[in-house]
Amino acid sequence: MSDFDFLRLAVDIGREAGDMLLAKRPARPEVVETKSSGTDVVTALDRASEELIRQRIKAARPSDAILGEEEGETGGAETGEGRVRWIVDPIDGTVNFLYGLPDWSVSIAVEVDGEVVAGVVNVPPRGELYAAAKGGGAELLREGVPGERLRCNAGVPLARALIATGFGYLPERRAVQAQVLTHVLPVVRDIRRGGSCAVDLCSVAAGRVDGYYERGPQYWDYAAGGLIAAEAGARVGGLNGRPYNPGLTLCAAPGLFEELHDLLAPLNPERDA
Ligand code: IPD
Ligand code: CA
Ligand code: CA
Ligand code: CA
Repeated sequence: MSDFDFLRLAVDIGREAGDMLLAKRPARPEVVETKSSGTDVVTALDRASEELIRQRIKAARPSDAILGEEEGETGGAETGEGRVRWIVDPIDGTVNFLYGLPDWSVSIAVEVDGEVVAGVVNVPPRGELYAAAKGGGAELLREGVPGERLRCNAGVPLARALIATGFGYLPERRAVQAQVLTHVLPVVRDIRRGGSCAVDLCSVAAGRVDGYYERGPQYWDYAAGGLIAAEAGARVGGLNGRPYNPGLTLCAAPGLFEELHDLLAPLNPERDA
């Protein structure tokens, strides 16, 4: 299958999961489990969404591996196409989902031999779906509107930059993140905490924020959004030329990326990764 075929399949599956979540979200979703801390919640629909996505992938591509936030990694056999792995966050922004805030998403990426070749972030409450195939640019798709090519904002200095960030669930990590924020907030235009890493990365792609940083997002949080932002012209990476994880994930147009990097590097010792 070509990267575009993978993208088409990921778009279809991401749409179906998003439609299901919108249709079935109760007024007050119930928390069925907490994970790393009492605020790290899982609802029945996080699980139902991952289940649906897994079923659809398995039906279309029985040999592929699947890494999902709720069920971990399963399957995967060598085929002539190389090792294909789907990276799934069934709801990114579960706390927003819980409260009925609109920034939650379904994030699906396809990796071939370790490289992400297609990514979809569906944001159902906003009627927006972000999509990218490697080398093919990034698009915002809305029903009844022609697809819109995405370009991140270029040439914005740090002092005028609107920066998105996020926080982990562990109190110890949050204490460090709060400290870091005291150094960032005075030297940027402002800070946004949207609540979905995948949406934050797409917001960089769409020019709705200028940059994004967060310590500790997981692969399923950023695999699809990272490709979308990169295909929209952003640089996505970690500290000191490292890949984005573990540690700090940074995303911004070249220029702002380096300014943000140089501000954050001394404040983020790798031992805190
Ligand atoms: C979380 C969101 C949030 C980010 C956290 C993630 P979840 O994912 O992406 O924006 O700050 O680090 O864990 O748990 O809602 O899928
Ligand atoms: Ca997530
Ligand atoms: Ca999730
Ligand atoms: Ca979660």
